Amino acid sequence: MRIDIITVIPQLLDGPLTHSIVKRAREKGLVEIHVHDLRDFSLDKHRRVDDYAFGGDAGMVMAIEPIQRAISHLTSQRSYDEVIYTSPDGNSYNQQEANRLALADNIIILCGHYKGVDQRIRDHLITREFSIGDYVLTGGELAAAVITDSVIRLLPGAISDETSALTDSFQDGLLAPPVYTRPADYQGWKVPEILLSGHAAKIDQWKHEQSLERTRKLRPDLLEGKEED
Ligand code: ADE
Repeated sequence: MRIDIITVIPQLLDGPLTHSIVKRAREKGLVEIHVHDLRDFSLDKHRRVDDYAFGGDAGMVMAIEPIQRAISHLTSQRSYDEVIYTSPDGNSYNQQEANRLALADNIIILCGHYKGVDQRIRDHLITREFSIGDYVLTGGELAAAVITDSVIRLLPGAISDETSALTDSFQDGLLAPPVYTRPADYQGWKVPEILLSGHAAKIDQWKHEQSLERTRKLRPDLLEGKEED
């Protein structure tokens, strides 16, 4: 898989994409990540990529030309499954979307900034628009890092315990059950007996019940239309 990220602040993506599972996935060749500085595609002598908004609104707008040039530069070399735009007014990003994106060969992520991009970019070049939550970040870079991270960990071979990604929260529409490690008794704080029983079927049943209970308590919205009361 190849992920191209277009941004005005490439440095913001250095940290999240150079450690741990993402770093190893890159080293193993499971994913190539290329971060592009949008200013490199500006024809302006000051490398400007924004301009004033028509209509007298406050705030700057990301201009069409550098973005169009950056995207064309990439699409002239290979075809892309999606051209994603990160913005607080995009569709909600979730695990299902991550699962879908993990099947793609090539994706572009354009990080939104300022007041956003000229709407014509969204109308003509963007195929998906994602928000990672109902709050406003200083830019779309952290959202691009979140999307990239969530997709990479799903690539076969990215996580050493192969079943691990399948048992994550949200994979079956439920939150994950609680987990415990040694010691079984820490100063009187005990691990539930059932987990020490060695009875695989009962343990699975317990985990499922715990998942349901957690989801009911913390995220009842996930169960809407699923449970019969
Ligand atoms: N850019 C600013 N806020 C954002 C958000 N919540 N999701 C995606 N991109 C953003």
